[in-house]
Amino acid sequence: MAQPKRIGILTSGGDCAGLNAVIRAVVFRAVHGYGWEVMGIKRGTLGLMTSPPDAVALTLDKFHGEVLRMGGTLIGTTNRGNPFDFPMADGSRKDRSEEIYAGYRALGLDGMIVVGGDGSFKITRRLEQEGGLKVVCIPKTIDNDVPGTENAIGYITAVNVATEALDRLQTTAASHSRIMILEVMGRDAGHIALAAGVAGGADIILIPEVPFTMAALARKIKEIDSEWERDFALVVAAEGCAAEDGRRFTVGNSDGQARYGGIGHYLADRLAAATGWETRFTILGHVQRGGRPSTTDRVVGAAYGVHAVDLISRGEFGRVVVWQNRQVTDLPLAEVAGAPRKVEINGPVMRTARGLGISFGDD
Ligand code: F6P
Repeated sequence: MAQPKRIGILTSGGDCAGLNAVIRAVVFRAVHGYGWEVMGIKRGTLGLMTSPPDAVALTLDKFHGEVLRMGGTLIGTTNRGNPFDFPMADGSRKDRSEEIYAGYRALGLDGMIVVGGDGSFKITRRLEQEGGLKVVCIPKTIDNDVPGTENAIGYITAVNVATEALDRLQTTAASHSRIMILEVMGRDAGHIALAAGVAGGADIILIPEVPFTMAALARKIKEIDSEWERDFALVVAAEGCAAEDGRRFTVGNSDGQARYGGIGHYLADRLAAATGWETRFTILGHVQRGGRPSTTDRVVGAAYGVHAVDLISRGEFGRVVVWQNRQVTDLPLAEVAGAPRKVEINGPVMRTARGLGISFGDD
């Protein structure tokens, strides 16, 4: 009788809601569908770098309880430590990819599922090409900027959180006649800001893809005041938006990666000066990444997990599972691991937003 297969799964990059739903689906499909073993690799590729590898057998009993409903990832993650340029304790950098290959071999894996975003996929592509790892990828990121898929795990939950924040800000904005500014995540792309802005009734949506001017924002506030006869307003801005002079709002740097924050504060000061209205800002931050996953993240997560295991069963590696036109399908990793997917400037949600009279600060 053939040996049962053993596959690995790791989660990589920033966490989000829905990762546990993906892990559960992978385990259910692998165990129930094929009789395989699944190893959960701890803290992304860091778990492969240790000797022996830091991994746990993901048996069915691990999923009896709350796991499906929980945010975070039960196997941990990291968004630091590119193995090809790893930051060492003494401040130097080291290529530690050989340790990853050794960890993969030590676990005796017949394939590995990487649940990650754009950055993780670029690293995975190199591990595949240079080390021959057999991988299938599943997209996750609240930013929803993975190319080739309409849906990355965690995105809809984050949009729901941001929409609820706007719902709550609207009542206090109205009570105090203020402009309320909500800063949401989105480093390179404004998908969260756009969707939450439409769903949450924002007057102004600012995204990295559309440069704004303060003059246009002030004109919009004036229109709300004089034509719409309203004395409060809601603004949602993605953290990756640049100021008028092109400056981005970074608050530091971890492992070569800029950390964002500050556009909300900047807008609050400038809008108060430009309009005379009272302003306040809220930075939603990591609240968007935690909590119970939305139904969509659970359903899409389940579909991704099942499809990824089925790909492995057919020996189809180097693929990324994606959601397109209400179907789960897959694309070559080489095609997906590239530049982030931006908001389509003439896409349906942008056109809807403009149709509603929402300003992007560019008119
Ligand atoms: O990429 C997802 C993301 O949530 C970004 O929107 C945000 O800028 C970043 O991660 C924050 O990362 P960290 O957890 O390192 O603060």
